[in-house]
This record gives sequence, C-alpha cells and structure tokens, in this order.
Amino acid sequence: MIDTHSFARPHEARVTDLHLDLRVDFPRQRVIGRVSLTLDRAAASTALVLDTRDLLVHAAADGDGRPLTFTLGARDPILGSALEIALPPGATLVHIDYETTTGASALQWLAPRQTAGQRHPFLYSQGQAILTRTWIPTQDSPGIRQTYSARITVPRDLTAVMSAESLTPTGIDIEGGRTFEFRMREAIPPYLIAIAVGELGFAPLGPRSGVYAEPATLEAARSEFADVEQMIDAAERLLGPYQWGRYDVLVLPPSFPFGGMENPRVTFATPTILAGDRSLVSLIAHELAHSWSGNLVTNATWRDFWLNEGVTTYVESRIMEALHGPVHADMLQVLSRRELLDEIDRLGGPSSPDTILHVDLAGRDPDEGATRIPYDKGAALMTLLEHHVGRARFDAYLRGYFERYAFQSIVTGTFVDDLRRQLLDERPGAFETLRLHAWIFEPGLPDNAIATHSTLLENVAADAEAFTSGAAASSLQAAADWNTQEWLHFLNVLPATLTPRQLDDLDATFGLSARRNSEVLFAWLRIAIRHHYPAAMPAVERFLTTQGRRKFLRPLYEDLMASAWGSATARRIYASARLTYHAVAVHTLDAIVA
Ligand code: BES
Ligand code: ZN
Repeated sequence: MIDTHSFARPHEARVTDLHLDLRVDFPRQRVIGRVSLTLDRAAASTALVLDTRDLLVHAAADGDGRPLTFTLGARDPILGSALEIALPPGATLVHIDYETTTGASALQWLAPRQTAGQRHPFLYSQGQAILTRTWIPTQDSPGIRQTYSARITVPRDLTAVMSAESLTPTGIDIEGGRTFEFRMREAIPPYLIAIAVGELGFAPLGPRSGVYAEPATLEAARSEFADVEQMIDAAERLLGPYQWGRYDVLVLPPSFPFGGMENPRVTFATPTILAGDRSLVSLIAHELAHSWSGNLVTNATWRDFWLNEGVTTYVESRIMEALHGPVHADMLQVLSRRELLDEIDRLGGPSSPDTILHVDLAGRDPDEGATRIPYDKGAALMTLLEHHVGRARFDAYLRGYFERYAFQSIVTGTFVDDLRRQLLDERPGAFETLRLHAWIFEPGLPDNAIATHSTLLENVAADAEAFTSGAAASSLQAAADWNTQEWLHFLNVLPATLTPRQLDDLDATFGLSARRNSEVLFAWLRIAIRHHYPAAMPAVERFLTTQGRRKFLRPLYEDLMASAWGSATARRIYASARLTYHAVAVHTLDAIVA
C-alpha cells in the first residue's frame, strides 16, 4: 500500500504515538511548543521521515535530550517538505521543538468580529485530507494510525476542545493562561487530530452527547440537535457499539469551510445547518456514521476515500430512515441521486476518470477527489449490494465488516476481497453479475444502480411543471406545506430558463431571497445568478459574506464568473470576503475568481 501523499517511510520508522505540548499565541497567530513522537522502528533504520508543510522547526532531540540532526527537504506545493531526522541506534522517542507559520492551512485564526460573541478570538483546525502536517510534524498518512495526548495552553478566558478525551474539562489556571489536557487512547489517522479554541459554552443533549458552541449560538444548537442521542442509538443498532465514549458536536463560527468534519468524539459543524426546524440534521447523521466508516475503519490512502464517504453516506441514509421513516429517507435519496448525475456532468461526463470510485490522485491535491462521486456513487453501490442480498444479510455483513477491520486502515482491494469472502461467498458469479469491477474501477454510473423514487417529490415536480407552463406561483397550494427537501427539489427541477416575470413571481410569492434555510437559499441564488436576476443580488452578497462553506461558495462564485454580468460583482465581493474565508476555501476560490 503506497500513499503518494506522504513522504513517510513507515517500514523504517513509524510514529505510533504523539504528545503535543503547545501554546496558542493569538497575537502572533501561531502555535508554538513541542511534539514528542514515539516510534516503532526497524533496528537497522537510520532515519525518521515526517511530513511537514510551512512549519518552522527549531530543534530535534532524542528521549535523553541529546540533539538530533535533521534536514528539511525541498517544498512541494501540495505535499510540503519531508523532515528527515537522523535516528541513533535504539532511539524510540523523538522531541521536536517547532512553531507554525501564517502559511498553516489547517488553522484558521478568527478575529473577535468574526465570531458570534465579538469579544474573543477563535482558532480551529481542519486536518483532512493532508493539512495536519501544517500544524504538527508527523507522518501524515491515513494508513499510519497514532494515539495522541496533548497539553494546550490558551488565554485565560478561552476553552480548548480537541478530538480526544478531555482530562481537564474547565482547564487549569497557570501563569499567563489556562491549560487543557487531552488523551486519545485509540490509534487514529492523523487527519483526525483536531483543535478548537474560543469562548465556548456546552449543553448536554443526552447521557453521552452534547454540544459546544459560542454562548450566543448555544441554545439554537441545542434545540436543533435534540435528536442526536437517538441517532447514536440507531447507528449502534445497525453497526455495533459506538467505540469512542462521548459524541459531541462543536458548532464553529460561519467561516468553517465544510458542512461537517468527523473529528472523533467531537464533530465540527457549520452553523449553516442551524435551520431552526431540524431539517438539515442529516449532516449530523453523516458525521456520526463516520464514527464507524472512516474513524473505526479508515481509508488507507486518499484513493480509497470512497470507503470513508460512500459507506458513510449509505449509513447516513439508514440513520435518517430509522428516525424519520422510509418516506423521508427516499426524498434524501432522490436528492442525492440528482447531485450525483449533476456531478458526473460537471466532471466531464460518464467516461471521465474522475468519476471512478478508486480514483487516481497521484500528483494532485487529494482535495480534488472530494467530489460527489465517492459519496453518492459509493452509497449507490452499498444500496445495490443491500438490494441484491437482502437487508438482513447486508446488515449482518456491515456489522461484521466493522468488527473485522476495527481500528485499521484498509485499501480498496481489502474491501473487495472481504466483500467476495464474507458477503458474496454463497453467490458464485454475483461479483460479475453485479458488475462490481465496473462500479469500483471504471467511470460513470452503471445502469444497474437501484432507481430512487419519492412520491412526495414527484408531486413537487408536477407543481414545478405547472409553474413552468404558466401557472402562477400563488396557485401552487401544496407549497405552503413543503419541507426543506421538497423546496430543494422544486428549485432543482425548474427548467434552465425562466422569464423575469416568473422569477419575480417566485420571489414575491415565496420570499426566496429572504430564506434563512441555507440550502434553500443557496438553490434559489444559483437560479437567480444564472438568470442575471438583479433583485437577488443583495441576498447573494449577504450569503457570500456571512458564511464560508465551500460547498456554497464555489458554485455561486463559478456561476457569477460565468458572465461579464456577474464577474465584476464576484471580484468585488471576493476582494474583501477572501480575508474571512478559511485557507481551504481560498485555495479553491482563487482558481475561480482570481
Ligand atoms: N470528511 C468530510 C469532510 C471532508 C472531506 C474534509 C474531504 C476534507 C476533505 C465530511 O464527513 C463531509 O463529508 N462533510 C460534508 C457534509 C456531508 C453531509 C456530505 C460537507 O462538509 O459538506
Ligand atoms: Zn463525510
């Protein structure tokens, strides 16, 4: 198994544990301190090779404090620089004194005015896919699992949260700050090491779940996520015991570039899912599902990313079905299939190599693999298998899969072998009949994908059709009761071209530009931009400047940049908003707007 996105040579010396002793320095926007790495090494090996990017390495020493020589390799723009440390015979502990630089893409430093409370700064990290190396020098490959512990010193008024058990919930006051200690006893891939520091409150949701958020956001978050404990129960019934102790959600300030990130014990989430009506909480089901698919059984390289996201998207749907029934789950499935077909188009059609589950990412940023393909095509493959063997048998298989590979990182080939041996063993020829090789190693969506139907959404589509053929928006009686998913479907199936009168009618009747639901607003704003509809432009500008979720930003900027009409506006908005976005979003958007 070769990870083309890491410099590490784990067969020579492998990191098995890391301890962080770091100070979070807000005025200078850096973390500074020491990491201590415990190694599993071959007796004859003479070097430890780590991944770094944009770190300032001050010194290296062995367990007895004897200095070690080190060299930093040439900087690759994607991978960063290999840090090679000379290993004396027998050494199994290495200390590195270092600090981060302003180039640390994993970290976002927020000024007080970028937070809800406006009084304190905020810091959070995003490790996936290969950004942990920008704030911790370690072997940053998902195939090299590590336990970790940390001692983090922050300014007195702030709280530190990590993806690990907290040993000091309220912190310990020390000279010039407050210290928090953490311990993760399970070996995890390094992309799951995460930190957040800010003015944070906490509210319990259930006996083993809760929510962290800025005080101003805490109550909204608590009420939105009231079903979390039920979700954990549903996931356990399906997949086996939850292995991480607590499950908390941390609601970040709005610049967080993702919807959610499955950091163990504490999912990081965007506040844009706080819709007020719990209609966007499938995102929490998704991040929770990663506690099995992703965190317990992990993709060993970024080529195998679909093992994380495909299985998770399937489980997400099963959790939603358990909580809200098949009618609701079917709506989510139809929306997901549509996104998949749109994505295949966007990636160049059904023969594009980027529509392969086992996608080739060598020489590219693994971020480029984060399309809808691993999610929705991966989930469609799981659904196909479920239908083929029946739900009871498939569920037993899934449970067994998580038992067999718990706390391991696996490649696609291991999954395929396991599938053949454990699920399809009594069905000779099933692998070929189901065309599983094509599903996993070839582009496009095979035509034996299980079709998805939702009567509710078919009704909505009929209303969209009526509107398109000239009916007034006010004549769509059912719209008064549409939920979020029905609204999304209605907007998605409208034709490519509407008249200015129809746009006015929609906006005036349904108040679309003033929607607070981020997904519905986003779907509407895309339509508005496509039509150069001026009345929605204030809403476009507000949305682009008040949240930083890449999934929303990228299509809106792309749509704006597609015409002379929008590109000047996009450039103007981006010129100031860029400073408020996370590096991950900036990286994507620079290529679009710059
Ligand atoms: N693990 C991903 C986020 C991610 C993927 C970060 C790749 C960096 C690289 C997370 O579980 C996820 O998929 N989040 C989605 C939401 C989900 C409901 C589809 C997101 O952020 O949009
Ligand atoms: Zn995910």
